[in-house]
Amino acid sequence: MNWLVLRLSLEPSESLNAHSHQHKRFPEALAFALNSRLRALLQPPDRLISKLNLRASDVVVDFGCGPGFFTVPLSRVVARTIGVDVSSRMLEKAVKHAKKSGAAVEFLRSDGAEIRLEDQSVDVILLNHVFHEIDDRRRVLAEFRRIMRPSGRLMIVERTHGSKLLAGKFGPPIIDETEVAREMQQAGFTLGQSIAHGSDSIIVGQKSN
Ligand SMILES: C[S@@+](CC[C@H](N)C(=O)[O-])C[C@H]1O[C@@H](n2cnc3c(N)ncnc32)[C@H](O)[C@@H]1O
Repeated sequence: MNWLVLRLSLEPSESLNAHSHQHKRFPEALAFALNSRLRALLQPPDRLISKLNLRASDVVVDFGCGPGFFTVPLSRVVARTIGVDVSSRMLEKAVKHAKKSGAAVEFLRSDGAEIRLEDQSVDVILLNHVFHEIDDRRRVLAEFRRIMRPSGRLMIVERTHGSKLLAGKFGPPIIDETEVAREMQQAGFTLGQSIAHGSDSIIVGQKSN
């Protein structure tokens, strides 16, 4: 069903080799940790959302939405929110979370190669700790470009600094921001500012024509 409208690392920042998949997908069995009270307490989702400069009229895709930690609060500040994930199990949890919260969210299952949304229909695509998990980033970035409005913004959040001792095994790996930026540029995005967010960076790209 496609429509559901229902690593302890001592190494320096890791390379995002465009041709090899370096990181395992986040384990579905740990989905509960992505939606835990502890996470909400330590990293309230609104803290990130407030840095995205969203407009009330925006159509936002939360790509790699997991169990909906950001999707649900996003739906309260923008016109239309679509959570996309490759994992049916994550989506089931996201649907439950949205229902329980009374949030109007649409969910789609996709690995990003084809996303069932119209051409030029999306204002903002957010990826929180997802980009490094994507196998075929070139293809997915091209699909993002297709669904984005001409002035659409791509916001890729990745861990770019912090303790290398704990990164990878107990959280996302530390990624080289310049490599993310390079892949975005190669895919046809103009780089905006990079916004600091704790140990993460929000790397912003605007669709260029
Ligand atoms: C670390 S979790 C982050 C979930 C959510 N963004 C959050 O911050 O709570 C990464 C998510 O990306 C999803 N994912 C990984 N590769 C994907 C792909 N190619 N297409 C769609 N989702 C993907 C995984 O299924 C997982 O739910």
